[in-house]
Amino acid sequence: MISRQSIDAVINAAAIDEVVGDYIALKKRGANLLGRCPFHDEKSPSFTVSPAKGIYKCFGCGKAGNSVSFLMEHDHLSFTDAIRRLALKYQIVIEEDNAQTSDEYNEQQKVRDSLLVALEFAKNYFKTQLKTEEGLVAGENYFRERGYTQQTIEEFELGYSPQGWESLVNEATKNQFNLDYFVNAGLIKKNEERGTYFDMFRQRVIFPIHDLTGKVIAFGGRQLVKDDKSPKYLNSPETEVYHKSNVLYGIYQSKKGIKALNNCFLVEGYTDVITLHQAGVKNVVASSGTSLTEGQIKLIKRFTENVTVLYDGDSAGIKASLRGIDLLLAQGLNVRTVSFPEGEDPDSYCKQLGAEAFTLFLKEKSRDFILFKIELLLTGLENDPIRKTEVVKNLMQSISVIPDALKRAAYARECSKLVDMDEKLLLSEINKIRRKNGEGNMPSHFDEEIKDLLQTNLPEPKVYEAGEEQELELVRLLIQNGNEKFTDEATVADFIFKELQEDEALKISNVLYDRIINEVKQHIEENLSFDEHFFTNHMDGDIRNLAADVLSDVDKYELSPFWLAGGKVIPTQKENYIRNLQSVFLFLKLSKVNRLIKNNLEEFAKASHADEIEHCQAYNIQLITVRNAIAGIMGTSYNVL
Ligand code: UTP
Ligand code: MN
Repeated sequence: MISRQSIDAVINAAAIDEVVGDYIALKKRGANLLGRCPFHDEKSPSFTVSPAKGIYKCFGCGKAGNSVSFLMEHDHLSFTDAIRRLALKYQIVIEEDNAQTSDEYNEQQKVRDSLLVALEFAKNYFKTQLKTEEGLVAGENYFRERGYTQQTIEEFELGYSPQGWESLVNEATKNQFNLDYFVNAGLIKKNEERGTYFDMFRQRVIFPIHDLTGKVIAFGGRQLVKDDKSPKYLNSPETEVYHKSNVLYGIYQSKKGIKALNNCFLVEGYTDVITLHQAGVKNVVASSGTSLTEGQIKLIKRFTENVTVLYDGDSAGIKASLRGIDLLLAQGLNVRTVSFPEGEDPDSYCKQLGAEAFTLFLKEKSRDFILFKIELLLTGLENDPIRKTEVVKNLMQSISVIPDALKRAAYARECSKLVDMDEKLLLSEINKIRRKNGEGNMPSHFDEEIKDLLQTNLPEPKVYEAGEEQELELVRLLIQNGNEKFTDEATVADFIFKELQEDEALKISNVLYDRIINEVKQHIEENLSFDEHFFTNHMDGDIRNLAADVLSDVDKYELSPFWLAGGKVIPTQKENYIRNLQSVFLFLKLSKVNRLIKNNLEEFAKASHADEIEHCQAYNIQLITVRNAIAGIMGTSYNVL
C-alpha cells in the first residue's frame, strides 16, 4: 500500500500542464492552456487546463479532473498505478508497506487524523489569541517590531500562546475534544499523579510548521521574555505526523518559488524564512537549527537540484555547516553559498539592506561552494605547505562525494589552479578517497588503471544499447539474489547499484528493467528491505510477470558460455552464480568499448584532415588497449561479440 504521505507528495508535485502536455499539444490562452480533447473527437480545441487550479476540463465532452484522474482515464490505470507513474516522472520516492493490512492502515490513519485535527484546532486557537488584548500587546506587537506585515502573519499563520497554564486545555475541553489527542501531539502535558493537564506552549509567539500540502504538523514557539531555564524556541516533539528529519520549515510557502526559480535558498531559522519571503525571496526554506539530513535533501530534490546555502556570518557557523554541505554534494546537488558579514544572519542583514539591495546582494555574492571553501580554508596558508596539504586533502574529501565523475573532474581542474598543484595528482587523490570510502572496496577484477582509463581518458560516454540479455541478467540477479551478501559489507543489490552509478554509460536501455532496478534502488535508499515477494506481489503487472518468469526458472537456468573466468566455466551453483555478477558488468563494459571502437572507425573512414586521422588512430589504439585488457580479465576473446 502506498503511504498517504507519498500520495500527497506525488499529487503535489504533479503539474497538470506537464502531465497533460505529455499527451497533447497545449497552447496558452490567458491564464489557462487549450488543446484538442483526447477523450473525444473534435475539430476545434475545447480541452482546457488550469495550471493554477491543477485541473482540466473539456467543454466538449464534459470530462474533468486532476493529473491523477487524467492518467487513470487516458491510460486506463488504477489510482495506485497512476500515482506510481507520476512518482516515476517526478522522481518521487514512494513509501509503501506491503505487509501492512488495511486494518493496520486504518488504525494508523485514525491516529494521524486525530493528531492533525488537534494540530489544526491549536493553530486556529493560537491565531485568534494573537488578536486578544494580551495577544496584541505581547504577540502582535513583537511581530510588528520584527517588521512583519499583516499579510505575512496570515501567510505563515503565526499565532500566540497565552500566559496561563491551561488556556489550550480549557479551550479544547470546552470544545469536547479528547485531550489525549493533544497530549500525543505534544501540545498538552498530563500530570500523571494528579490527573491534571497543562499547556506546553505558554507566553510564546507561535510558528506553525506546515507539510508540503499545507497541513500543520508541528509548532515552534519563541519565548518573549528571556528565561534561561527554558529554550528560546520550544519545538513540537516527533509524532506520527512530524518526522523532523524529513521536514523543512517554509516548504509549503516556498515550493512554487523553488520550482519556478530552479533554486532553493537554505537558511537556519524560522525568522530567516519569513523575513526573506516578505522581501520577495520566495524560494527559501530552513533546516530549523539542526544539521541537514538526507530526508530534507530529498525533499529539496523534488523541486530543484540547485541549493544556495545562506548561513550566519561568523566563521564558526560556516565551518559547522561544512559537513551538512558535503551531504548536499553527495546527493548530487549543485551547491552555492553566500557569506554574510560577521554577526549578521539572513534575517538581520535583509532588514538592514532593505528588500531590493538584499536581493541584489544575494545575486552578486552567490558563489560556487567548493571554490568558496577553497578560498576560505586557504587564506593565510600560502607559506605553510604542511597545513596547506591538510586543507587540500579536506577539499578532495568534499569533491570525492560528488556522484558525477565529470563534475569531480571539473572541480579537480579548478582546484589545481587555485592550489597550484597537478590536476592528475588531485584526481588520483580523489579516487583514492572514493575507494577508501567504499566506492573502491567492492570486489572487482578491474585493474584500477583500466577503470581510470574508462572513466577519464575516453570522451564523454554516449548512452549505448547494451545487450538486453545482460540487462536481464542484472534484473535476474537482483530478483533472485539481491538481498544476499556479496561481500562482508555489501549485498548483491548494493554492488549492482554502485557499479551502475559509477559509470553513467551503463544506462539500462530496457524500460521495464530500468524501472525495476530504480524501484529497488529507491526502496533500499529508504532503508526498506525487499525480497522476492516485493516483485511477485508488485502492483505493476509487467514486473509481477517478469518476477514470476525469473523465479520459475531458477533451476533450469544455465550460464551462458560467455561467463568464463580464467578459461574455466563457472558452475551454476548459487554462490558462483552471484560471483557471476562481475562478469555481467565486464560484459557490459566490453560492449561499451566495442561501441566506441565502432564509432571511432566510422569517424576514421570519414576523416580527411591529417590531424583528424592521427587523432582517430591514436584513439583507436587506446580503445583497443582497454578492450584487450577487459577481454583478458574475462578470459574470453573480444571477437566473440
Ligand atoms: P537562532 O538562535 O539563530 O534563532 O536559531 P533565529 O531564527 O535567528 O531567531 P531570532 O532572530 O533570534 O528570533 C536558529 C533556529 O534554530 C532553532 C530554530 O528553528 C531557530 O529558528 N532553534 C534555536 C531551536 O529549535 N531551539 C532553540 O532554542 C534555538
Ligand atoms: Mn535571528
